[in-house]
Amino acid sequence: MLEGRVVIVTGGGRGIGRSHCLELAAHGATVVVNDLGVGLAGDSSGDDPAAEVVAAIRDGGGTASANGSSVSDWSGVASLMAETVATYGKIDAIVNNAGILRDATITSMTEDAFDAVINVHLKGTFTMTKHACDYWRSEQKAGRPVVGRIVNTTSGTGLAGNVGQVAYGAAKAAIANMTQTTAMEAGRYGVTANCISPVAATRMTAAVGMAAVEPDAGWNPLDPANSSPVVAWLCSEQSGWLTGRVLRIDGSAVMPVDSWSVRGGYRSRSGEMLEAGEIDQGLRKAFGLAPLGLAGLQPQTGHLR
Ligand SMILES: NC(=O)c1ccc[n+]([C@@H]2O[C@H](COP(=O)([O-])OP(=O)(O)OC[C@H]3O[C@@H](n4cnc5c(N)ncnc54)[C@H](O)[C@@H]3O)[C@@H](O)[C@H]2O)c1
Repeated sequence: MLEGRVVIVTGGGRGIGRSHCLELAAHGATVVVNDLGVGLAGDSSGDDPAAEVVAAIRDGGGTASANGSSVSDWSGVASLMAETVATYGKIDAIVNNAGILRDATITSMTEDAFDAVINVHLKGTFTMTKHACDYWRSEQKAGRPVVGRIVNTTSGTGLAGNVGQVAYGAAKAAIANMTQTTAMEAGRYGVTANCISPVAATRMTAAVGMAAVEPDAGWNPLDPANSSPVVAWLCSEQSGWLTGRVLRIDGSAVMPVDSWSVRGGYRSRSGEMLEAGEIDQGLRKAFGLAPLGLAGLQPQTGHLR
């Protein structure tokens, strides 16, 4: 499916990103494994997980190389793109997967922790997107065909919020939204952008008590590899009809996620500007709640949609 395609995977050294790299290589892609090798909170770990993944791909007969830039390092990412093009002649897809966690409730959150999470997830996804799109746009302007793919990573927290994850959830929600704008803009120069929402047992979810997946113990609904076949398809030429969408992948299922939606609601009694005094009763109706006594607005069906 990916023979001849060149894909960069960020955070490709561990967890879900590692699985993406192995799956992409198994389908014939040349894989650039980017990983800063940090601890869960983004602290320095001294590890070089990208090298291990590159070795595994090469052992299997594939082509891969490692890159140790941080995804939020503007010039580091520019070099990553330039080196990929210099080494392999092109870039066909980027998979924005790198991430860290610094969970805290709003009242316990520090400025440092908030900035660090936004920096890796949101700025990192944008930095990669910006430099890849610069490359693809210039390719298209030079008259060379572009079949570019961007795969972003959001999460259940980004779609619905979660106690203790105010920074992470906000960054992940913004990534889903950035996917939509990227799809709108980059389609003009031959690029699609989509976003996955995976579910997996990794070191990231070990903190909330998810048991690790035992290697070689058969199929597991929490295996980090479960979302990788979807990522392989999204990086391929086949997926060109889909852009600007979020796909939730949970176990053996892949499910389209719908965006924020505007529905029904309450329309002012006057038919003109809403009045503060009618909002409470109007919205209670709109949310399907019983009206509070008769002191307020009398519900008038004709005004409800
Ligand atoms: N595990 C889940 O259930 C789950 C659910 C939803 C979303 N996600 C998302 O999936 C992605 C991967 O998560 P995971 O569970 O595999 O985590 P993980 O901690 O196992 O792997 C993340 C990798 O990203 C790397 N990384 C961190 N900061 C980096 C930076 N600045 N530059 C380059 N690399 C960096 C780390 O070194 C690490 O190898 C994250 O974006 C995460 O938010 C995970």
